[in-house]
Amino acid sequence: MPPLVFAGEARKLQSALGEVAEGRAFLLHAGDCVESFHEFNAVNIREKLRILLQMAAVLTYGGTLPVVKVGRIAGQFAKPRSAATETVGELELPSFFGHLINDDTPTVEARTPDPSRMVRAYHQSAATLNLLRAFTKGGFADITRVHEWNQEFVASSPEGQRYEALAVEIERALRFMAACGIDLESEQRLHQVDVWTSHEGLVLDYEEGLARRDSLSHDWYACSAHMLWIGERTRESLGAHVEFFRGIENPIGCKIGPTATSEDVLALCELLNPEQIPGRLTLIARMGVDHAGDKLPPLLAAAKDGSHPVVWACDPMHGNIFKSESGLKTRSFDAILAEIETFFAACHDQSVWPGGVHLEFTGEDVTECIGGSEAVREDELNLRYMTLCDPRLNARQSLDLAFRVAELMRQPNGRVGNAA
Ligand code: PEP
Ligand code: CO
Repeated sequence: MPPLVFAGEARKLQSALGEVAEGRAFLLHAGDCVESFHEFNAVNIREKLRILLQMAAVLTYGGTLPVVKVGRIAGQFAKPRSAATETVGELELPSFFGHLINDDTPTVEARTPDPSRMVRAYHQSAATLNLLRAFTKGGFADITRVHEWNQEFVASSPEGQRYEALAVEIERALRFMAACGIDLESEQRLHQVDVWTSHEGLVLDYEEGLARRDSLSHDWYACSAHMLWIGERTRESLGAHVEFFRGIENPIGCKIGPTATSEDVLALCELLNPEQIPGRLTLIARMGVDHAGDKLPPLLAAAKDGSHPVVWACDPMHGNIFKSESGLKTRSFDAILAEIETFFAACHDQSVWPGGVHLEFTGEDVTECIGGSEAVREDELNLRYMTLCDPRLNARQSLDLAFRVAELMRQPNGRVGNAA
């Protein structure tokens, strides 16, 4: 099969992330927990892009910095699971590992891994990426359409209205520039954006099949996406995943959970980015709100003292999952926000640039995470709980969060208000 991305694109993303590593840009890394074979359609892809563009507009304008936009999209089909099996009724079944591997239906047949799914995932990724390219280069992402990214069910909410006000300001700024004689028509950067693709590089059989030697540089690239990351469960230094990632030249990420030590972080930096190239390695801290304040500072300090040019991003999602009373997995908006706040404060204290956020969202009006300005209550979770794996922020909660992060970006001490 042909590669899905070109090595030159991966290099372009790496240099954009290099700007983040050096404190001149911010990373917005977000999308679905897991993509689905069942929900594969244009509307779904468009709505995810729409919320990504909306959040990026809020962060770019609010934080007055370029925002590097990376989707968990067009290939995010595999899930690491804590347990290999689960019990459904009387049945002990293999867990659902993502549509790249098996189906979510709780039957033995559906849960049996099927390698032909890798081919289907490849084709779905190709079609998704094609539509993303069409939307981002063909006019949908044009900054003059900033108003149109506000979905109807979002527009009526407080954060939707706040977004409207921001869109009006952006339009005024554009008119001001035009009045100063700047030719906005010919400025391509206002009319097209780069949205890069990424997923967890979990299934090495799939990734190896799409690893190709670049004809220009003769280096090896993972051509299934622009960026891949190593999950929290597969980041051991001597493991197969680190070994595979060492051999590809793409920009890469690695999740860093609360059990990681300074030695682990240094070993990962040395193995994965021995030449210390800014933008090559993004460390995605996912500590959980209760651990971030203690665990993060020594890790930030270790990478900094080792002169490793790390992009530090905060994943406030994966350390904050809990089971609601109804048994549904959820996360609270307050905990997510609090972990991001702790991340910003810790980075400030260590003189490290808070490089970005890593989020799980959907463009749909789901009720999977509790809280937010128009609070989803715990007893409302089952109204529209649609995720195949982890609970995602809905479009309103995502936009709300973008405004809060933009506020944090503006704070000289990394803290909002009088927080210690
Ligand atoms: C994920 O990003 O969906 C995930 C499983 O994360 P982690 O590896 O951090 O648990
Ligand atoms: Co997840």
